Amino acid sequence: MYEIIRQLEEQRARARAGGGKKRVDAQHERGKLTARERIELLLDPGSFEEWDMFKEHRSTDFDMDKNTVPGDGVVTGYGTVNGRLVFVFSQDFTVFGGSVSETHAEKICKIMDQAMKVGAPVIGLNDSGGARIQEGVSSLAGYAEIFQRNVMASGVVPQISMVMGPCAGGAVYSPATTDFIFMVRDTSYMFVTGPDVVKTVTHEEVTQEELGGAMTHSTKSGVADLACDTDVDALQQLRRFVDFLPGSNRERPPERPTDDPADRQEPSLDTLIPDNPNEAYDVRELIEKLVDEGDFFELQPDYARNMMIGFGRMDGSTAGIVANQPMVLAGCLDIDASVKAARFIRFCDCFNIPIILLVDVPGFLPGTAQEYGGLIRHGAKLLYAFAEATVPKITVITRKAYGGAYIVMGSKHLRGDVNFAWPSAEIAVMGSKGAVEIIFRQDIGDEEKIAEREREYQEQFANPFRVGSRGYIDDVIMPHNTRNRLCRSLRMLRNKKQELPWKKHGNIPL
Ligand code: HXC
Repeated sequence: MYEIIRQLEEQRARARAGGGKKRVDAQHERGKLTARERIELLLDPGSFEEWDMFKEHRSTDFDMDKNTVPGDGVVTGYGTVNGRLVFVFSQDFTVFGGSVSETHAEKICKIMDQAMKVGAPVIGLNDSGGARIQEGVSSLAGYAEIFQRNVMASGVVPQISMVMGPCAGGAVYSPATTDFIFMVRDTSYMFVTGPDVVKTVTHEEVTQEELGGAMTHSTKSGVADLACDTDVDALQQLRRFVDFLPGSNRERPPERPTDDPADRQEPSLDTLIPDNPNEAYDVRELIEKLVDEGDFFELQPDYARNMMIGFGRMDGSTAGIVANQPMVLAGCLDIDASVKAARFIRFCDCFNIPIILLVDVPGFLPGTAQEYGGLIRHGAKLLYAFAEATVPKITVITRKAYGGAYIVMGSKHLRGDVNFAWPSAEIAVMGSKGAVEIIFRQDIGDEEKIAEREREYQEQFANPFRVGSRGYIDDVIMPHNTRNRLCRSLRMLRNKKQELPWKKHGNIPL
């Protein structure tokens, strides 16, 4: 017995040593933590239960049978984040560059399967050279098994990918099929083909960072939801983020008691909207004044900034916030903003998270770039996602809600549950100037007449009462009382049930 225990300790020590001191030092020198250090920071102290610590690869080619490390380059198991269960895998770059072998993949699949059974999020800490080159197709098969599970788990348990090192080639498609991707600045990158191949094929010279670093994916491509400064910052952000999410699609979002009164009044909101309708204001201020304790977790903050998305809590319970940002492109809808909001709405709908829309939108962005880029298809995603969602949906029109964008941004007609308007709301087919220039074209040139027509149009539509008289909004509310009205509505909607007609799945315009 004593001998077995000694051997066990020895095996554990070997597994914990990963690829050895030299490689661990190299990892640290790059500013990266090891796989185990990352897990320690992510999970509550002492909560980690490791599985398959002794699992080794089975390959024999290239003398691989003489080169094994217990754990085979990935640390897997489960633990808690602020007391709530999560499953985690953390690739160990010090062991065969964190590359994915058949057995490495089996370990990841095992925790994914278990997470699905018990209903808990899967967090992947990715740091890998890709498919284990010595294993050939066996490692590709392993990847494919992970991809299949990513897809099966989609909408069942939240999946979060933290990219903390290389992630290239087909390997990017595992994070890409998860719900959220966070990246670490300067040490992580994701691309389908690397700089060398790019140079050969397109003659473009580009660095790894430019091609697929955290900045690129959080500002240009929209692939990443967040760019974090360091490993430590990334793991802290992840802990905070997990707090907002339910464990699975069978649960309600988590609740966190708050001292922030649900009926808190915010007098400053009464003067948020500038007198000049063409002047911008920062919708972030509104969001932070509405959510519990001003705690808002923004996603994709540097991508499609004309649309803000993220999680906050209302009266202790998670809500997804979707808001036009008048500070950027006057808050209009373009391709990127539509896709950004649509995907977020779908996540909320999968996981029973109520959606609050804050609307100030002058319409869709005109131009050939948008039309050629498929604004029709991409804008339709937002319409589709909102119309399909069955979670509680509450809309507040703060100012403009024009044309198609009025419909798409959470209108009553798309099964909005509660639709509020501020007194400053203007709901119309378009702005008064554009409208008058079309319907009174014969008067163009007669400035006085045109100004009179504009005033007339403005009086007719630049207020919430006409829409109120049709029942398309449920009430006109005072800005300072918005939080109170939202919290009450959310409480009323707590047990909302709405079914979709039977179908295998819909066909969202992808
Ligand atoms: C086996 C690998 C490996 C891999 C790295 N290593 N990648 N071992 N399979 N894919 C090993 C190295 O041999 C080395 O071992 C250690 O990991 C660290 O690698 P270095 O090259 O020294 O590190 P670095 O200079 O930081 O470069 C990291 C890297 C580079 C950029 C990731 O290693 C690299 O280009 N690797 C190959 C990437 C690749 O082509 N992968 C397959 C892509 S195809 P020692 O013993 O020296 O420490 C793919 C398809 C997936 O992934 C498809 C899914 C459908």
